[in-house]
Amino acid sequence: MTRRSSPPCSTTTAEAPIPLDEASAPNDPAFAAAQAFIAANLRLQPALGIPDIHLYTAHAGSRLSRLGGSDDVPPYWAYNWAGGTVLARHILQHPDIVRGRRVLDLGAGAGIVAITAAKCGAADVTAVDIDPNAIAAIDLNAAANDVAIRAVRADLISAEPPAVDIVLAGDVFYDAELAERMLPFLRACREKKIEVLIGDPRRAPLPADRLTLFAEYAVPDFGHGAGEVVAGVFGIDP
Ligand SMILES: C[S@@+](CC[C@H](N)C(=O)[O-])C[C@H]1O[C@@H](n2cnc3c(N)ncnc32)[C@H](O)[C@@H]1O
Repeated sequence: MTRRSSPPCSTTTAEAPIPLDEASAPNDPAFAAAQAFIAANLRLQPALGIPDIHLYTAHAGSRLSRLGGSDDVPPYWAYNWAGGTVLARHILQHPDIVRGRRVLDLGAGAGIVAITAAKCGAADVTAVDIDPNAIAAIDLNAAANDVAIRAVRADLISAEPPAVDIVLAGDVFYDAELAERMLPFLRACREKKIEVLIGDPRRAPLPADRLTLFAEYAVPDFGHGAGEVVAGVFGIDP
């Protein structure tokens, strides 16, 4: 259910480049191996809650532990999460949020938000994640949905805001330490006139009291079976 739409689009003046990591390069053998593993062991199926988008999704037989990669983060990229799903729903209902704009999907996971933005007419879409396997998955998922997305392995949140018009951050407040770093970065983006939308099912580390709720939707979440959770689309003040 939409309570009210998000604020009007703004134009950004931020021009810091998004740093590229060599590990994201499609000619990297580890990248190719990760893509081969994903294609062979995950199922390309309708995304939870957004069935028009297809994602390589893990199942009981995937045995993701066989896939090397980042020791720092679990394989979040193998599913879509309520925070990304609520942002995708919101963008599908209000495509003007992204149409013709430079979009950054921050903490992209499987890339559901980036794919939705591309389908809704974004001018340029970059999906960023710290997990190299997420980058491999996003690249496959973008191809499966016939959209162009630049998938970049990077930890941007200690850097200057990138040269985009809008940052979409789906389910990136799942961890208290990450939340501590995420909030100042998103604030810095707003100071540079970059629009920011956060999607989140009010996980414990989300600083909801410092955000503005724009809309709420009931969406599925990984780990909730067939049930739904209420998740919000939030804005943030500089
Ligand atoms: C819970 S998942 C959400 C994925 C996707 N947005 C969704 O909603 O389906 C959070 C993602 O954030 C990524 N992440 C964690 N710290 C990050 C950072 N500093 N920069 C970019 N991505 C990060 C993780 O690797 C993971 O893929």
